[in-house]
Order: sequence, then C-alpha cells, then structure tokens
Amino acid sequence: LIGLIITLPGIGFVLAPVFRKPKQLWRTVGKLEDFKVGGFVLVQYEDPSPVVWAGVTAKAGAWIRRASESEFIAFSINCRHLGCPVRWVEDPRLFMCPCHGGVYYEDGTVAAGPPPEPLDRLKVRVRDGLVEIETTPTPLTLTKLT
Ligand code: FES
Repeated sequence: LIGLIITLPGIGFVLAPVFRKPKQLWRTVGKLEDFKVGGFVLVQYEDPSPVVWAGVTAKAGAWIRRASESEFIAFSINCRHLGCPVRWVEDPRLFMCPCHGGVYYEDGTVAAGPPPEPLDRLKVRVRDGLVEIETTPTPLTLTKLT
C-alpha cells in the first residue's frame, strides 16, 4: 500500500496505512474478579497499531463498569470533541473532559460542552475468567521521516 505523504511546514510525515480498514481486536483488560459491581474503572492497554510521534508510543484506554454480575458497560477514554482522555467522576456520576469542558452522562451521551457525539461504546466479553473489550486500532500510523 502506498503511503500518503503530507508535508507540513518544515516537517515531512508519512501516513500509512491510510486506506486499510482497521480490524476489530479483542484485548484483555483484567481478570473477572478484578471488577467489582459499581462505578467505572479505568483500564489501559497497548495499541497494536499505535500512533508513533517523535518516538513516543501511545497507550489506549477505556472506562469499564461492571453493572451487575454478568453485565459490563465500556466506553473509549477519548472525548468525541478532540480526543482528550475523559475522567469518570463518581459524584455527580459524570464523565468530564479536562480540555474544553465537555461533560457526558454515565450512559455516554453528551450532557454539556463542545462534544458533538456520545462517547464510543465498546463491546465487552468474558472468556476463561478474563474480561476483554473490542476496540479498533488507530487507523493511521504516523512515522516521522526527518
Ligand atoms: Fe474534550 Fe474538547 S477534547 S471537550
């Protein structure tokens, strides 16, 4: 696949692979017994198709709530405005974005601020005692050329 070359003022970057459809992947985020019924818990995992920027590998994250013994709810950590990591605040039970004041209800819908859409909801499954979430790898890999 031919990469797309974008030249920014004084800096060259290759974006690749731009046209490949990202594959959904299941990622283990913990053992079942690690999740108590209650509020949201932050989990982090390595993105297998990470954004590489000046040698820094990005980590991805999600908020997971065990709503009952068999029911899980998970959202991407990234705000739908410009992607900042949102924080779960137990009281008043809202997700808050520290960048521009975006606020989401606990079902992921927008309560206030600039986000145009709800938080991305992620599928959750339990296999062999492990909790897994389904995510899409970052579709673009940024590689610094110069
Ligand atoms: Fe979250 Fe702007 S990135 S409100």
